[in-house]
Amino acid sequence: MRNLIDIMELSTDELKELIERALDIIENPAKYAESCRGKKLATLFFEPSTRTRLSFEAAMYELGGNVIGFSEANSSSAAKGESVADTVRTVGCYADIIAMRHPKEGAPLVATRTAGVPVVNAGDGGHNHPTQTLADLLTIYREKGTFENLTIGLCGDLKFGRTVHSLLCAMSRYAGVRFVLISPEELRVPRYLISDVLEPKGIPYEEVTSLEDAMPKLDVLYMTRVQRERFFNEADYIRLKDTYILTPDKLRTAKQDLAILHPLPRVNEISVAVDDDPRACYFKQVLNGKYMRMALILKLLEVEV
Ligand code: NCD
Repeated sequence: MRNLIDIMELSTDELKELIERALDIIENPAKYAESCRGKKLATLFFEPSTRTRLSFEAAMYELGGNVIGFSEANSSSAAKGESVADTVRTVGCYADIIAMRHPKEGAPLVATRTAGVPVVNAGDGGHNHPTQTLADLLTIYREKGTFENLTIGLCGDLKFGRTVHSLLCAMSRYAGVRFVLISPEELRVPRYLISDVLEPKGIPYEEVTSLEDAMPKLDVLYMTRVQRERFFNEADYIRLKDTYILTPDKLRTAKQDLAILHPLPRVNEISVAVDDDPRACYFKQVLNGKYMRMALILKLLEVEV
């Protein structure tokens, strides 16, 4: 039985397989409409979510399956003091697969020990978010046609932004990829990503503070929200929250075929005036997330189509 806790549990061949599956789902949705008939997905969300939870649910419905779950910790027995291990052991009696989001890093990993069914990490604290990476990868692939030889700018809260951590790991496996890590000093990527991922593989990267200076080099610009809920004090959040605001003006020096991604929700970091720019891909990314989650559910449930 397979789980998906960390994006690196999927080989590059498996990622390719998931992308091909998602592209086939996009072309032939009717072929998949009954694939998960009789199966149940449980969405256990101990933290707020719009896209991740609803796209998992939409994905399961479009595969002909059903969905149970909760969308806030307070409506579950967690509010009575139940452990994650006991909650998922219970849910594993009702569901065939579990998607779980939790504010504590490692909680979905703990869940795998008692669930008895596949567990998918739908975001664990400031750590990882592998299924957002699946959405990001399909978007990059559809926009660029390749993962190789791309210069990727990751911009904003690189410290607490879990989507950044998973995407950086995933992209580090493709030839010719280079990273421009754009953040305020206080929000640089965790050092383990430098020492355990970028340095050992000899991947070219630079850590900079200016988005304007980086812009002309980028093939992909991945904007992120400053993660207010992970800050220890509000004053730091207020000081840092508007460090980067992408506007049409700042895009004047960007490549014509730049792909602008954002996992969403956005707060101020991309002006709505950018939405009409053909390079803005963040709402396509939302839709891609649903198709990749469909592909993932099929894989983890070992459904033959
Ligand atoms: C992200 C998350 O939850 O980490 N959202 C998402 O799942 N698309 C990004 C964020 O909250 O900023």
